Amino acid sequence: MCGIIGYVGDKQAAPFLLAGLKRLEYRGYDSSGIGIVDARTKSFDVRKINGKIANLENLIHSQPLCESSTGISHTRWATHGAPTRINAHPHVDTRKNILVVHNGIIENYESLREKLQSRGHRFVSQTDTEVVAQLIGEYYHPSRSSAKPEDLLAAVRKAVKQLKGAFALGVIAADQPGVLVAARVGSPLIIGLGRGEQFIASDVPAIFQHTKKIIYLKDGQMALLTPQCVQVSSFDGHKVQPKVDTVNLQIDAVQKQGFAHFMLKEIHEQPQVLKQMFQSRVKHGAVVLSGIHLTDQQLKNIKRILIVACGTAYHAGMVGKYIIESLANVPVSVDVSSEFRYRNPIIHQNDLVIAISQSGETADTLAAVKEAKARGAKILAICNVVGSSLAREADAILYTHAGPEIGVASTKAYTAQLYMLYLLSLKLGMARKQLNPQLGRKLLKGLKHIPVLYAKILSEKGSIAHIARANSHFGSFLFLGRNINYPSALEGALKLKEISYIPAEGYAAGEMKHGPIALIDEYRAVVCIAPESDTYEKMISNIQEIRSRKGKVIAIATDGDTTIKRHAPHVIYIPQTEKLLTPLLVALPLQLVAYYISVKRGCDVDQPRNLAKSVTVE
Ligand code: G6P
Repeated sequence: MCGIIGYVGDKQAAPFLLAGLKRLEYRGYDSSGIGIVDARTKSFDVRKINGKIANLENLIHSQPLCESSTGISHTRWATHGAPTRINAHPHVDTRKNILVVHNGIIENYESLREKLQSRGHRFVSQTDTEVVAQLIGEYYHPSRSSAKPEDLLAAVRKAVKQLKGAFALGVIAADQPGVLVAARVGSPLIIGLGRGEQFIASDVPAIFQHTKKIIYLKDGQMALLTPQCVQVSSFDGHKVQPKVDTVNLQIDAVQKQGFAHFMLKEIHEQPQVLKQMFQSRVKHGAVVLSGIHLTDQQLKNIKRILIVACGTAYHAGMVGKYIIESLANVPVSVDVSSEFRYRNPIIHQNDLVIAISQSGETADTLAAVKEAKARGAKILAICNVVGSSLAREADAILYTHAGPEIGVASTKAYTAQLYMLYLLSLKLGMARKQLNPQLGRKLLKGLKHIPVLYAKILSEKGSIAHIARANSHFGSFLFLGRNINYPSALEGALKLKEISYIPAEGYAAGEMKHGPIALIDEYRAVVCIAPESDTYEKMISNIQEIRSRKGKVIAIATDGDTTIKRHAPHVIYIPQTEKLLTPLLVALPLQLVAYYISVKRGCDVDQPRNLAKSVTVE
C-alpha cells in the first residue's frame, strides 16, 4: 500500500526512481508520480498519472524530465480522493516551494485544511497529503540566497508535530537540490546509505541493488539526507545514533525466474521454504525456537493464548487454535486484529498474545499489538519480514524466513506461518508435558516429509489446472471444510476472490444447512475439502446434499480414496499425511485452483485490483 522512494546523490534521479517504483509495485497501487528538483530554475519538474507504472514510464518517455539528482516518487493506493492524476503524489504547496510524498493517513487533515485555507493556501486535490505540503510550505521561507538544509528540516519538524495519524514522508524543497527530509510515524520507511548518494524507500526491494546498508527509521524520528551524509533526529530535535543493518537480499528473490507470475513462483518455493524451516528449527528430534525468549517453565505457566492477525495470516491463526489446543492443551482465542483492538479485550497475567503477519507492517495488527501491550500482555510475533515494525514492537519473534513475497495473494508466507505454528505447538506441548512423545515424534516425522509431498502435488499440477479451467466459468464459489480444515475453506475462498474477483465464501461445512444451502443450484461450484479425517463421513453427506441440488462439486481428498469419486465429478488428490497436518497439504491445491482460474479469466494475478500487499492504514 503506497510506496515511497527518494534519492539524493550524484546520478540522475529519474531512472533510479522509476526502477525503484517498479520494485514497489507489489505493494498495491492505483496511480504513481515522480517529482525532481530542477537546480537551474529552482523549481520542481513533476509527472503524475493514474493506472500502472507503465503509464508513468510512457509519460516520461513522451515528456522527458529535466536532469536532476534529487527526487521523490510514489505509488498511491487511494484513500482520500479517487485515483486520479491530480490526487496522485507528489503534492506541492501553494508557493511551489515544497514537494511531498506520503504513505499513511493524516487523521486531522480536515481541521488543518480549513485553517490553512483561511490563511490563503489553495488546495487542488482531495487528498489528506496536500495539507502536509501546505503546512511545511507555511513554515519554510528562507531567503533564496541562503537556504540551508536545516531550514527544510526545521519546517518539516514543525509540521509533523501537528499531524495526527500515520505517516511516512519524503520531502524536498525547490531551492535545495541535494537535500531530502524523511519522517515517520506508524508507516514504514527505510533509509539506504550509499557512497555519495542516499535513498529513502518503503521497503528493501526498492533499493537493495544500490546499497545493503539500511537504517530502519523508528516512529517519531526524522532524517536529513544529503549526498554525503544522513542525520537522524527525534521530532523534538534530539540527535539519534541510528543502528545500521546490513540486508542480505538476492536479486533472484525479487525476480520471476522464468515463472509466468510471482504467485506461481512463490507456490513453487514452498517445499524449499518448509524444508529450510525444518532444518533450522528441529535439532536432534527437538524443536528449537530460540527467538521465543521463554523458558520451559514460562511456557508451562501460560494460561491462555490470544492470536491476532489479518487476512490470510488470520486463517493461519485459526488453524493455530486447533493445533495448539490439541497438542499443548492451552485455550486459544483468535481475533481479526481490527476487531481485537476495539472489543475491550481482557488480558490476564500469564496470557500470551501471538501476532501473525507476513509483512510485519499491517496497521491493524500493529494497533492490536499496541493495545495488548498497553494491557500488560507479552507479544510473540510470527513474521516474515526481518526488521519490520512488528518485529521491533514484539517482545519475542519467530521469523518464518520465507523470502520476499511479491504476489499480493499470500501463498508461501501462509504455509510458512502454518508450519511455524505446528513447530510452536509441538514445543509448547512438550514443554507443558501435554503431548504424548510418540505423537510428537510422528508429527515431527510428518512435518519433515511435507516438502516431499509438496513436490509430489506440484508435479501433478497439470490435472489441478485442468479442473480449475473446467470450472472457471462459474459466477460464484462456496468452499466447505470441517474442523481443522474449516480455516482452509476460508483461505481457499479468500485466495479465489482476491485474484479472480469471483464471489467466493468459505464456510464450516456443518453450517451449510443454516444458510448457504439456499444458494446451491447448477450455477454454483462448491469446493469440498474432504481429506481423511474424523469428519470425513459428514463431508460426504454434505457433498450428497450439494449434488442433489445440482451444485457442482470439486472435492479435495486423500490419495487412495475411491469412494469420493462416486460423489464428486472433480477430485483433487493430496498425499497421505497425519490428519492434523492436512491443512498444510490442502493449502497447495487451493492456491493452484485460484491461480489457474485467475489466469484463465485474464485477471492480474500478482497485482489484483484494489488490493495491497502491505496494508499500512487502519
Ligand atoms: C493484505 C494482503 C493479504 C494479507 C493481509 C495481512 O490484505 O493482501 O494477503 O494476508 O494483508 O498481511 P500481513 O502482512 O499482516 O500478513
